[in-house]
Amino acid sequence: MECIHKSVLVDQAIQYLRCHPDGVYCDATVGLGGHAERILEVTSPDGRLIGIDLDASALAMAAERLSGFRDRLTLVQGNFKDLPSILGSYHFPLLDGVIIDAGLSSYQLEDKQRGFSFLKEGPLSMNFDVNGRERASDIINFYPEARLAEIIWMYGQERWSRRIARRIVEERAKSPIKTTGGLVRVICSAVPHLRSRRGIHPATRAFQAIRIEVNHELENLAQFLKVVWGCLKHGGRVCIISFHSLEDGIVKRHFRDFASGKDRPSAEGMVEVITKKPLRPDQEEVRRNPRSRSARMRVAEWH
Ligand SMILES: C[S@@+](CC[C@H](N)C(=O)[O-])C[C@H]1O[C@@H](n2cnc3c(N)ncnc32)[C@H](O)[C@@H]1O
Repeated sequence: MECIHKSVLVDQAIQYLRCHPDGVYCDATVGLGGHAERILEVTSPDGRLIGIDLDASALAMAAERLSGFRDRLTLVQGNFKDLPSILGSYHFPLLDGVIIDAGLSSYQLEDKQRGFSFLKEGPLSMNFDVNGRERASDIINFYPEARLAEIIWMYGQERWSRRIARRIVEERAKSPIKTTGGLVRVICSAVPHLRSRRGIHPATRAFQAIRIEVNHELENLAQFLKVVWGCLKHGGRVCIISFHSLEDGIVKRHFRDFASGKDRPSAEGMVEVITKKPLRPDQEEVRRNPRSRSARMRVAEWH
């Protein structure tokens, strides 16, 4: 599965989570199980892991990869924002560490039926949960123009957001935009000077923005960062790997505000930020896995 999705910053995550045999951990975005596998290896023989993901097909692949650890592993389809209730319903004890490796996996990107890729013709879905109700096509075909422009600007930092939103609204008035290819054509017709965009495909930013909106990615992360502290033992650590500056900003702010007691005065002094600056992959990792180049990892500890 390493060839389907290369996990990022694995050694650093293991080191900063201080994984130890008989510890209790959560991989809250277990995906294809890359981080989970290493956690289970280094916590042998008694360490336990609960792996959560919204994507049932990723969980099935993780279950196969991690089958050798079956006795120490629990896999759950769910949203990490609901961590306290998930741990409660599986009678899982307080955690020594929890990791989030945010965003989508290469496996999801490559599957054209999921609609994440602007390079593959497919339905406009983009939901991490294949059975999830929200779909990119609803956003594209029903959101007001101003809201579309706002999302594409805010979550994609796309300078042509207003032109793209206007073209989407013009096109959908003729017929609904149902496929990734259809959306790519509309975006390309709205973005001038394709060659001046320093190598990135003109649909990159808008696709990212729509995916973030479909999955409420920033809200989920913010909610997780509010509730995670009550799920940790004293000395337990939270490790977040993000790929988007907005996500990294949310992590940085929440860690800082909890550490200073601004978010919850009763928590003042209870949270320590371990990584003053985010950790980044080294050159060798970026060479092996170019997707890792935008990864940033931040870690905090509950005292
Ligand atoms: C980058 S992948 C994780 C890869 C994994 N760490 C590995 O090494 O194989 C991110 C995963 O997070 C899942 N995900 C995204 N948002 C989620 C959420 N709110 N709750 C649970 N899983 C989520 C996605 O479905 C995806 O499988």
